[in-house]
Amino acid sequence: MWLNRDIVSIGDLNKEEILQVIEKANSFIPYAKTGHPDSPLKGKIVATLFYEPSTRTRLSFEAAAKRMGAEVLGFGSIESTSVVKGETLMDTIRIIDGYSDAIVIRHPSEGAARLASEYSEVPIINAGDGAGQHPTQTLLDIFTIWKELGKVDDITIGFVGDLKYGRTVHSLSKALSHFNVNLHFISPETLKIPKHIRKEIEKKVPVREHLDLEEVIEKLDVLYVTRIQKERFPDPEEYKKVAGTYILKPSTVARGKKSMIIMHPLPRVDEIPVEIDNLPQAKYFKQASYGVPVRMALLDLILRGE
Ligand code: CP
Repeated sequence: MWLNRDIVSIGDLNKEEILQVIEKANSFIPYAKTGHPDSPLKGKIVATLFYEPSTRTRLSFEAAAKRMGAEVLGFGSIESTSVVKGETLMDTIRIIDGYSDAIVIRHPSEGAARLASEYSEVPIINAGDGAGQHPTQTLLDIFTIWKELGKVDDITIGFVGDLKYGRTVHSLSKALSHFNVNLHFISPETLKIPKHIRKEIEKKVPVREHLDLEEVIEKLDVLYVTRIQKERFPDPEEYKKVAGTYILKPSTVARGKKSMIIMHPLPRVDEIPVEIDNLPQAKYFKQASYGVPVRMALLDLILRGE
């Protein structure tokens, strides 16, 4: 049942439900630029509460809501809100619950979206909680793989970069473990995928860890690059030790399969140089554009239950 459902963790969705979002998103592609002709979410209000910066997630949720005929309200930074006066997350959620039909929330603290769901009658959609989860990014990532490779099963995926704090990797690797995939995690020692996530995933699919992308590039169908996130490091000196560790070289891409796709949740800093952008393997801007139809599909499922 989709109606009024919270989406806090990708673990809240099973494989069939993930595929249901993917199929609906595909049917909405023609309307992602023009708007749905029936405005199926007319009369609904989607609130976007972003306690952390965002370009893609907030604006694609807002575009998706508007393309479906819904109204949008919310804030993109806390400076203009009563949070600066000391209002708690719980109180803010109780208030916005009265003003909207769904709340999309991004927060720097892991677990904040789950906490919000306990204080809200309307559904909570997690748009990223600290180093925790980013389930709607995962849906658009799986959509990208499905659109660009024509399948999600029988593929090999390499995640490279900040796998410790990278919430997109945490959510996507968990979701991919529903499929027939091989996963390779490539990171410095200090940024390895958290042990509890690896343990959960390797019960279902083969997992390998590496320090060097060159070791594994030839096997990959998907290279999922992530930014080393300066803002998540408690100690700036630790960040300096790993900054710039994995800068993708055209020669590395050339060693990979011609059919390999390069993804990145964005924003990037220096890990994908601009000369990669024109390679046919580069799909990260297309990936970001898929945020609109995927979020249109998710809002439709949650707000109309179908
Ligand atoms: N991918 C992603 O979450 O981007 P933003 O931080 O710009 O929302």
